[in-house]
Amino acid sequence: MGRYQEEFRRSLQDPEGFWGDAARAIRWDQPPRRVLDRTRPNFARWFEGGRLNTCFNALDRHVEEGRGEQLALIYDSPVTSTVLRFTYAALRDEVARFAGALARLGVVKGDRVVIYMPMVPEAVISMLACARLGAVHSVVFGGFAAHELAARIDHARPRVVLCASCGIDAVRVLPYKPLVDKAIEAARHKPEHVVVLQRPEAKAELTAGRDLTWEQALEGAEPAACVSLEASDPLYILYTSGTTGHPKGVVRDNGGHAVALRWSMEFIYGASAGETFWSASDIGWVVGHSYIVYGPLLRGCTTVLYEGKPVGTPDAGAFWRVVRDHGVRTLFTAPTAFRAIRREDPAGAQLRLHRPADHLRALFLAGERCDPDTLQWAREQLGIPVVDHWWQTETGWPVAANPIGLETFPIKPGSATMPMPGYDIRVLDEGGSDQPAGESGAIAIRLPLPPGCLQTLYLDDAGYERAYLTRYPGHYLTGDGGFFDSEGYLSIMGRIDDVINVAGHRLSTGAMEEILASHRDVAECAVVGVADALKGEVPVGFVVLKQGTGRTEAELVLELVALVRERLGPVAFFKSATVVKRLPKTRSGKILRGTMRKIADGVQYSLPPTIEEPAALDEIREALSQLGYPQVAKGAPAT
Ligand code: COA
Ligand code: AMP
Repeated sequence: MGRYQEEFRRSLQDPEGFWGDAARAIRWDQPPRRVLDRTRPNFARWFEGGRLNTCFNALDRHVEEGRGEQLALIYDSPVTSTVLRFTYAALRDEVARFAGALARLGVVKGDRVVIYMPMVPEAVISMLACARLGAVHSVVFGGFAAHELAARIDHARPRVVLCASCGIDAVRVLPYKPLVDKAIEAARHKPEHVVVLQRPEAKAELTAGRDLTWEQALEGAEPAACVSLEASDPLYILYTSGTTGHPKGVVRDNGGHAVALRWSMEFIYGASAGETFWSASDIGWVVGHSYIVYGPLLRGCTTVLYEGKPVGTPDAGAFWRVVRDHGVRTLFTAPTAFRAIRREDPAGAQLRLHRPADHLRALFLAGERCDPDTLQWAREQLGIPVVDHWWQTETGWPVAANPIGLETFPIKPGSATMPMPGYDIRVLDEGGSDQPAGESGAIAIRLPLPPGCLQTLYLDDAGYERAYLTRYPGHYLTGDGGFFDSEGYLSIMGRIDDVINVAGHRLSTGAMEEILASHRDVAECAVVGVADALKGEVPVGFVVLKQGTGRTEAELVLELVALVRERLGPVAFFKSATVVKRLPKTRSGKILRGTMRKIADGVQYSLPPTIEEPAALDEIREALSQLGYPQVAKGAPAT
């Protein structure tokens, strides 16, 4: 039996033994009394009785253990022409001081702190400072609009909001502070303070009595010590898109998270302490939480914080330049970034210039399915293992991967390889029976979930059970569909709900529909994700108008596009909408979004037997052709 098989079997047969051993890599203030508490099966808890501090494990322990002078964080920002380096000792000191500043503002264990910041070191410092105090951070991605930020402020009820005056997207300066002001104005909950990092590119207006600058917050602040926390105390809340307009507040604990991430760094990514690990993602997403901030630091690696794009900052060689300059051993990014690089540099001239393969051991891709063509290109160009691995905000670390730290499997393009230890993955049919190899179904994970996965939804245990645990009792529903092949390789084929992935950003078509439906001229609407060569998927809206709107369709479409941008944010990339006379529905009134999507993607579809008016599908086909989707004409009902 290979090493992977051994570990995988043990993790399912003896989870207490497996994770109890893994927990030894973490420094506990008090070791756990019990590894797994299953008293409430839907709310199993890991490492009961254990006490620790995640920030201590990410920073202080490495200083104590002799890594004080090793680099912990490299900030590389082509958009401001800056490179800054922080040793473990320096980062620990910065974090301790900022934690002291937060404590002086009244932040204590259990308080929430919302962070709305671009990719600057202060964002990482803020997260770790919260962890140091036992305050619960909630990072909101900068591409979300004020309305979305307000919804998160109202739900998390933070004592303090941390922000920067602006973000920078390639060459554009994007003011953040006006969005924060607008969000707080709109929110019912009013945070006591806003701490603003003034960046030279844009100066923010401050509200007297509420706002203070970073320097003001730090002035005279005493370094704060690490607060000892229960393993099950929350570390953070990260809101993610579900099927409705209300984001879900995924809650992550301290103990399970530290153990799982530390384990994954060694055995999935094969990363050793002292190496440079780079996740080209954003701290606003789970990848940024797990593999820019916590994972690499828990392992004693040097992590890279990159404020730039794969292309345009300044060119398609940007990633390779960073790998070369900082000696990156492991790179993690989204397939969409690779498609962008490939589009600008198909022959790999920039790769030959910077020679990233001299440094890289492996490339990991996640966030969306990696199309085999892109995977193949990356493999050929780099000549290193390219690993497509699958996970979600909810799980916090990979569910399926090629665990190069344990055993490297031959790569099958299109597959995320094997289930990771702790994840008993099942592919289920409608009735909940296991599908045979090769047959697609809903992907579920048998409870208990391993350490590091979500504990619940913030303030919503019932919503957590409803969204994830009721469809297949005893299982967690991932929301993805796929299949195992005869060799046990898992392929993820896409979401089976109304979540879409646009350029690696997870979004809800339901949220977009709610916004469109709020327009006074819209009678009903549907938004579907349509295949896109660069972004993987893009949303397209179909609207049925009320009678006598008095405006042209073109005017209305422009208004709808602006409305989604204003309410959800630019990250939604909602640029296409079209007016139709009716939406295709079943006789019971369910909109046939899946069939619409197949038409858009040029995929064969079967005509649902319960369809109300089959001609409505022809109208969708016509509308999509007019929007310029070339593949539409090919799609036809399956015979
Ligand atoms: N703050 C404010 N606005 C932001 C933002 C941020 N942090 N990130 C994106 N936006 C805005 C952009 O300015 C853009 O607005 P625009 O419509 O006014 O131009 C919009 O959101 C869409 O941005 P983006 O999705 O980045 O598209 P792009 O066309 O600029 O770049 C890619 C395309 C593929 C290069 C880019 O999306 C990318 O690098 N994706 C990788 C994503 C990723 O790492 N995901 C994490 C999972 S691993
Ligand atoms: P997020 O929660 O933002 O990380 O998005 C998670 C979702 O992205 C998953 O549920 C999948 O739909 C998709 N996803 C992530 N990684 C992969 C992958 N390697 N293959 C297929 N889909 C993926």
